[in-house]
Amino acid sequence: MKNRHSDYMRWAKTFSRARYNLATSGVGPFPMKDLPFDLQQLEINGPSTYGYTPLQSALAGKSEVDPDCVVAAAGTSMANHLAMATLLNDGDEVIIEAPAYELLVSTTLYFTSNVKRFARREEEGYRLDPREVERAVSSRTRLIVLTNLHNPSSAFAGEFELRAVGEIARSVGARVLVDEVYLDAVYENTPRSSFHYGPEFVVTSSLTKVYGLSGLRCGWILAEPDLARRMWRLNDLFGSIPAFPAEQLSVAALENLAIIRDRARRVVEVDRKALAEFLDRRAGITRPHTDWGTTAFIGLQGESVDLLLQRLRDEQETTVVPGLFFDSPRHFRIGMGVDSEMFREGLRRLSIELDKIGSCAG
Ligand SMILES: Cc1ncc(COP(=O)(O)O)c(C=O)c1O
Repeated sequence: MKNRHSDYMRWAKTFSRARYNLATSGVGPFPMKDLPFDLQQLEINGPSTYGYTPLQSALAGKSEVDPDCVVAAAGTSMANHLAMATLLNDGDEVIIEAPAYELLVSTTLYFTSNVKRFARREEEGYRLDPREVERAVSSRTRLIVLTNLHNPSSAFAGEFELRAVGEIARSVGARVLVDEVYLDAVYENTPRSSFHYGPEFVVTSSLTKVYGLSGLRCGWILAEPDLARRMWRLNDLFGSIPAFPAEQLSVAALENLAIIRDRARRVVEVDRKALAEFLDRRAGITRPHTDWGTTAFIGLQGESVDLLLQRLRDEQETTVVPGLFFDSPRHFRIGMGVDSEMFREGLRRLSIELDKIGSCAG
């Protein structure tokens, strides 16, 4: 039966907030007053049909692709939905990484119940291993779904592994959907989009997580032009046209992306250092080393994550994301990049509760 809900999204919208909120996934909000934009220019209505030309050009320029390969969408969420809606028919087999961002699984299950998983293993730092993909695919596979950086662990997948997955997809006539919403959090030698690795790649992303611009809902899909046209046409049934003021502001944001990203980077790096110090002081905790990203996936050896998270919320006004949402009940996810003081205090409170449940004496 068709899935029609996301347990994670409901939790995120109604239960994730707290005074010390470590349950985030992206950086803190970029303030409107810091965006170089003359508000006198803001208009309610505009000429957007199949894309607003200045925004199409700016997105194409950012990804180094032809504007015909860009489909605008409301955030990566709608980009994923629209890409899947275009690519999938009922019954098609889809292979999704595990652990995975829950919405990728629940959205896929809206279109087809034929979902298989391939492992990204904790003991291997959650790296993308093409052999795991190879083991899972069959001649019925239509789509392989993964994230880069990986949510929840922030593990980075390089060109070599991604091209190998592309070849596996090609061999069975499938496509690879890569959600790159966190990729720009690789602050040095930022890789090109995997869209450049072959025609089977379809990429989704947005300005939400890495830039703190979630409210603009500026998302996009990169797909070869014929497929992109089909997506635009299908979107007529969903969103029709976007909010024009958001399109104007998105163009301004894209013109100032380097400044916006640097500001976010400063906060993420302070938090990353605080997290590394915190983890170094503790035993009984597992966490793969990652150089980049706004999330860390932490495993608890021996103790109950449920109990810890409950006490963290009730006694310390602190939240993290339960690993259950990633099919990993012994884990939890911590988000960096919102507010370094809050982050440090949240970690201190997490320490107190870890000490209490007797795990990880440090
Ligand atoms: C992998 C992944 N894709 C997409 C999204 C949603 O992004 P957006 O806010 O751009 O819709 C998230 C949010 O956490 C995410 O982790």
